[in-house]
Amino acid sequence: MAKRSTHFVCQTCGATAPKWTGKCESCGAWNSYVEETAGSGIGGAIIGQKGRPMRKGRVVPLVALSGEIDQAPRVATGIAELDRVTGGGFVRGSALLVGGDPGIGKSTLLIQAAATLARLGARVVYVSGEEAVAQVRLRAERLGLADAPVALAAETSVEDILTTLADGPAPHLVIIDSIQTLWTEVVDSAPGTVAQVRTSAQAMIRYAKESGATVVLVGHVTKEGTIAGPRVVEHMVDAVLYFEGDGARHFRVLRAVKNRFGPTDEIGVFEMTGRGLKEVPNPSELFMGTRDASSPGAAVFAGMEGTRPVLVEVQALVAPSSLGTPRRAVVGWDGNRLSMILAVLEAHCGIRFGQHDVYLNVAGGLRIQEPAADLAVAASLVSSLAGVALGPDCVYFGEVSLSGAVRPVAHAASRLKEAEKLGFSRAVAPKGGPGEDSLTAIRVGEVMELADLVARIAGGSRPRVTAAEPRAVRA
Ligand code: TYD
Ligand code: MG
Repeated sequence: MAKRSTHFVCQTCGATAPKWTGKCESCGAWNSYVEETAGSGIGGAIIGQKGRPMRKGRVVPLVALSGEIDQAPRVATGIAELDRVTGGGFVRGSALLVGGDPGIGKSTLLIQAAATLARLGARVVYVSGEEAVAQVRLRAERLGLADAPVALAAETSVEDILTTLADGPAPHLVIIDSIQTLWTEVVDSAPGTVAQVRTSAQAMIRYAKESGATVVLVGHVTKEGTIAGPRVVEHMVDAVLYFEGDGARHFRVLRAVKNRFGPTDEIGVFEMTGRGLKEVPNPSELFMGTRDASSPGAAVFAGMEGTRPVLVEVQALVAPSSLGTPRRAVVGWDGNRLSMILAVLEAHCGIRFGQHDVYLNVAGGLRIQEPAADLAVAASLVSSLAGVALGPDCVYFGEVSLSGAVRPVAHAASRLKEAEKLGFSRAVAPKGGPGEDSLTAIRVGEVMELADLVARIAGGSRPRVTAAEPRAVRA
């Protein structure tokens, strides 16, 4: 018999090596190599292990793209902001991962969803691996949910959880808090390791598919921003929701980063109160609530989050730097995009930032991903450098290109309507966006070039704002 060739495979990244090594060259993981037999994969060998012939495959039916579709049956939770993010409720037989920093409110959100659904008559099982039954009960009491018929268990063994679930009527929703605490006897490594998390998640996902229950897995995010070790879980589940927010503030944003059954650009906004998470149906009001419009460097961006317009304040601070390389710090926006806007302002508007530190912050802990925020960012930067406050009644939106041109963006009409609703009377936006013929009473000041915006803020005709005389442009 021919000699069986073996190789070693890194269990973290999948890299292969002919010999065992302690540290993976490609991902840096330690002790992650496991010996595998070459050709032991599907189609790799005709003769399977122990000399038995491999099972002959059967013919599966191939069908056309068109035909009957089973609509994904959904269970709406009754928490509108959560349903918005999932695309209309939990899909039966699907698995979701809810990720977020420790203490952000994942357990709170899920116990609220569990209780709401249970009160509507669904059978909900909440398995807590992190907290004891008493702790979960205490929280439920505090939230006023103690009377909801949620079945609760504090358990971490996958085998025991699956046996418990199989015993008695099939649940509609199973919540596992958290995936990092689960362990299975199949894998002999500690709970929280990649192998344990992956295998446990696999077992729970298989349970979801087989039983038709929705399984929600909670995952903690590590400091690096990935769901601790097992990014693999993200690939395995049907939807990944991130719960984010500024720990010091009270609002929280739930965002779908992957969703096989719905949109990924919707956000759900919640406020953490003394009695749990409260929905925020109109986030603009929350983000604009504590605005001080009289200081320079603040511009209101009329943005879109999915299908919903959201107004949010962009704050910039441009201050003289004592460093050789000035600092650029961004919270809530893309740092590369800030560099781009600074470069365009320098190249096409003659504004120098080389001697200045630049800080940019999106108010309320929101993270903006739209390029439409370019114009508001540019306005806040120029406003801060020039020391000129922008009008309190004006919103900004538009995409800036490298040539200095301001490009139209989608949903201009919705953005303007939302601004009008919140008491704004003016907007600065590019000319001719789609749907521009809106019925709002907002006066739109059109800008074609970024230099037009600078001129508008400075109140003159294309002034040169320079680092040497930043206040010279005060109108
Ligand atoms: P929790 O849901 O335990 O977070 P996670 O599961 O993501 O780790 O939330 C804990 C935080 O929320 C904690 O700092 C206290 C706060 N909180 C409130 O402010 N109000 C409440 O009603 C509850 C239940 C928690
Ligand atoms: Mg928790």
